[in-house]
Amino acid sequence: MVFLFFFGDIYEIIVKTKESWGFKLTQKYNEIYQKSIKNREDFWKEISNDIFWYQKPTKILNSDNPPFYKWFEDGVTNTCYNALDVHIDQGRGEKLAIIYDSPITGSKEKITYDKLKEKVSLFAGALKKQGVSKGDRVIIYMPMIPEAVVAMLACGRIGAVHSVVFGGFAANELASRIDDSKAKILVTASCGYEPGRTVHYKPLVNKALELANHKIKKCVIFQREKDKAELNPAIDITWDDAHKDAKPAECEKMNANDYAYILYTSGTTGLPKGIVRDIGGHIVALKWTMKNIYNINPEDVWWSASDIGWIVGHSYIVYGPLFYGCTTVLFEGKPVGTPDAGVFWRVISEHKVKSLFTAPTAIRAIKKEDPNGEFFKKYDLSKFDKLFLAGERADPDTIKWFEKLSNSPVIDHWWQTETSWAITSSCTGIENFPVKYGSAFKPVPGYDLKVLNSEGKEVGPGKMGDIVVKLPLPPGTFPTLWGADKRYKENYMSTYPGYYQTYDAGHIDEDGYVWIMSRTDDIINVAGHRLSTGAIEEVLAEHTNVAECAVIGIADKLKGQIPIGLLALKAGVTKDKKEIISECVKMVREKVGPVAAFKIAIVVKRLPKTRSGKVLRGTVRKIADNEPYKMPATIDDPAILDEIKQDLKDNNILKL
Ligand code: COA
Ligand code: AMP
Repeated sequence: MVFLFFFGDIYEIIVKTKESWGFKLTQKYNEIYQKSIKNREDFWKEISNDIFWYQKPTKILNSDNPPFYKWFEDGVTNTCYNALDVHIDQGRGEKLAIIYDSPITGSKEKITYDKLKEKVSLFAGALKKQGVSKGDRVIIYMPMIPEAVVAMLACGRIGAVHSVVFGGFAANELASRIDDSKAKILVTASCGYEPGRTVHYKPLVNKALELANHKIKKCVIFQREKDKAELNPAIDITWDDAHKDAKPAECEKMNANDYAYILYTSGTTGLPKGIVRDIGGHIVALKWTMKNIYNINPEDVWWSASDIGWIVGHSYIVYGPLFYGCTTVLFEGKPVGTPDAGVFWRVISEHKVKSLFTAPTAIRAIKKEDPNGEFFKKYDLSKFDKLFLAGERADPDTIKWFEKLSNSPVIDHWWQTETSWAITSSCTGIENFPVKYGSAFKPVPGYDLKVLNSEGKEVGPGKMGDIVVKLPLPPGTFPTLWGADKRYKENYMSTYPGYYQTYDAGHIDEDGYVWIMSRTDDIINVAGHRLSTGAIEEVLAEHTNVAECAVIGIADKLKGQIPIGLLALKAGVTKDKKEIISECVKMVREKVGPVAAFKIAIVVKRLPKTRSGKVLRGTVRKIADNEPYKMPATIDDPAILDEIKQDLKDNNILKL
């Protein structure tokens, strides 16, 4: 009895102590988070003091015209000044800004803040000489080379709005971005290098210029040493020639609500959406995240292994680390094959990288080639701190594999091109949250997250629904879409008035952890790249023999998801099905780009549809992934699903 009493006491003490640890563990985050939601203007005002302003904002948030909110509207600042000059002014010009490491070409370069400013100012002057001024758009279609970063920052310096287009997109996609942005100048390089293949940009650019209705005034081409492009003197000028007689340009004073850039991202149709970023909020928010989310200090080396063509590249190869004044690694290579599955570990140990941010696919690719971590063991990663993952759901197996290998935490955090910084994460500079495998941690300060059912009612803990953010969104997120206020309002802000619809579904558990389960639109994530199945369908529908088609994202062990096409042919088509399929695959590669990774299609008798004509994409996806599914009550012809199942089986697509 005495023993039991004693044991019970100890048990209670342990529980209480654990509770108080738990309380202490979350108190700081909770306090900061609550302030960011309940007292948002004070919260962001305080943080905004940490950046350079020519004129400090006196108005922090203008909520007069929802859903169009304005942060820091009377502030005056400059993106490039905050990325470069400010650090030089503080006597840190000799610090490394960029470490460029290109295993694919065998070159490396270290660039200080002083040197980077020199390059950027001069290219900014070169752009001015070509007639670019404040507010003009500049398309940047370049591989992962320092000149791409120089071009981005040069735009910021003179107040031009850049729009970077990912190199894996085809000429059509480039043309649609030229037309939508009405860019004055296009900056490109002679080529990019993919393993085993040189991507010649110039022919793609030429084709895009032909396709576009809007006429670009000039193309500036950076000639890479080994593969020079043939130029058309009427429109082209080399990077070197553009610099001749150019004078270094100073920073333009920009209003906080002027735009820093447009980044096009997949929408539900083939027409990409131009996500815009305003200048003031972008600097304030990204600088804050470097410490608070990533726990980086100014003396650290940080590496985001992404591409500047994606939002992760914009925010965490270029802007976040440079606003913060640390060193960023610019990596031109792949996780495997350049030259091997040890290249990530080589870069981390050689450049003393504190933390790495990449897509789960990259780690899965390494794990596939080197399951026992033999390459990992070759390098000293004792100083490595954390791995951050985003872009797609991180599967627990991959997380656990890396944790075991490296003895370092893995942080799966969730965000979108629209927001430019994480919506949920462990805020590791505030405190480290315990891991729950499969969850992307908790809302980051600034984001008031809710889960709603189809009637717009909040659901309880653990219940699935649409994940939304209560307006206003925090600084640094998208204030609108380029030239499309109506689309912004209708697309994102109308289904649930007063909330931003993320188009991700999931739930929030009783501890406040967020679980992102799936997209609610037809966006798929292929190797961490966001793609629209609608855009691929638009291309397939152009094939002369295709009557109807549907594209579905099915699970893939390496890339997370891959697209497959269902093609219903026109009556009377006698052409060989294999030939039609290979023509379709070629068309998608040519019109959307190799990045679509569209390699599989099957010919079906009919598309499975509801009686009202809606294609049953979700059901086919479940069949292909061998998940349980219910025969939809509204299906027009139940036999068609069995036929498709057989087709998938015959084509080795069904995962048994
Ligand atoms: N320029 C031109 N083509 C490109 C390209 C670029 N910048 N990036 C990719 N491509 C091409 C590839 O060469 C490939 O072409 P192929 O069909 O001729 O082989 C195609 O687009 C598909 O690329 P990808 O889906 O990336 O597959 P992959 O087999 O080449 O590589 C991984 C697989 C896992 C190594 C690669 O996807 C990877 O590194 N993923 C990390 C993802 C990432 O960084 N995401 C950013 C968001 S965080
Ligand atoms: P992008 O705009 O290219 O960054 O893609 C954003 C989309 O990727 C999100 O809407 C999600 O569907 C998905 N995504 C990004 N990060 C995660 C994550 N950590 N977990 C699950 N899905 C994610």
